[in-house]
Amino acid sequence: MADVPTDMVSQAVQVDGLRKHYGDVQALQGLSFEVRSDEIFGLVGPNGAGKTTTLRTLATLLNKDDGTVTVAGSDVDGDPDAVRRAIRYLPEDAGAYESMSGRQFLEFVADFYVQGSEAASMVERGVEIADLGDRIDDDTKAYSKGMTRKLLIGSALMTDPALAILDEPTSGLDVQNSKVVREVVKEFPDADRSILLSSHDMLEVEYLCDRVGLLSDGGIVTSGSPEELMAESDAENLEDVFLEVVA
Ligand SMILES: Nc1ncnc2c1ncn2[C@@H]1O[C@H](COP(=O)(O)OP(=O)(O)OP(=O)(O)O)[C@@H](O)[C@H]1O
Ligand SMILES: [Mg+2]
Repeated sequence: MADVPTDMVSQAVQVDGLRKHYGDVQALQGLSFEVRSDEIFGLVGPNGAGKTTTLRTLATLLNKDDGTVTVAGSDVDGDPDAVRRAIRYLPEDAGAYESMSGRQFLEFVADFYVQGSEAASMVERGVEIADLGDRIDDDTKAYSKGMTRKLLIGSALMTDPALAILDEPTSGLDVQNSKVVREVVKEFPDADRSILLSSHDMLEVEYLCDRVGLLSDGGIVTSGSPEELMAESDAENLEDVFLEVVA
């Protein structure tokens, strides 16, 4: 990522004072952070901290109570369709699809975005990212959890979204497949392509993320590059930062 001041870089995401409650639970308590247009930003925090709630709000799947959220230059309330066009969202627990092979699923998704030879090359890109070998032509109902996850990551990134929102992208993947997905994610950002992800794997976050926001009880406790956070806490790794900050 280019080393330029924040105000000179366009933002992929700007969140200010985001609040959300479910019944008596105040899930987000005035959350603020930004994601630059060329970076990988990681949201980390304990179970129940509010990561998925934040990501679903940005993906226009959940209405907020208060605050402003701008994604790729559009307000999530003012122009949700523009936000939806700019992003792809990988849910935390996405399942398989009815009677469709992996390739047919990618074709089905590509059809929403482009036609003809462009669709064919989009699908080829998806097949490559999903990295399922011959199993790409098997029925998705027969896929394991990890295979489904890889297919969905292929389908999310093949469309070249301005922002990919990935909720725990490597959750449920074995060591080898996690590595494959990490490399795909690492390669994705460009001048105007960014990734916002959540993860519980601090080694993964340290490796992948340009900047990290540490979330606890619905608020960002601290944010910065992994190096900045480690220096701030005088810690040798992000796991120790995490344990110190959320303890
Ligand atoms: N549909 C819901 N109904 C009621 N409460 C909810 C709902 N979804 C989330 N919550 C609550 O909101 C808070 C934040 O949950 P959220 O799923 O955003 O956390 P998370 O950081 O993604 O956790 P995890 O690491 O376990 O995925 C939690 O207290 C949770 O119980
Ligand atoms: Mg979650």
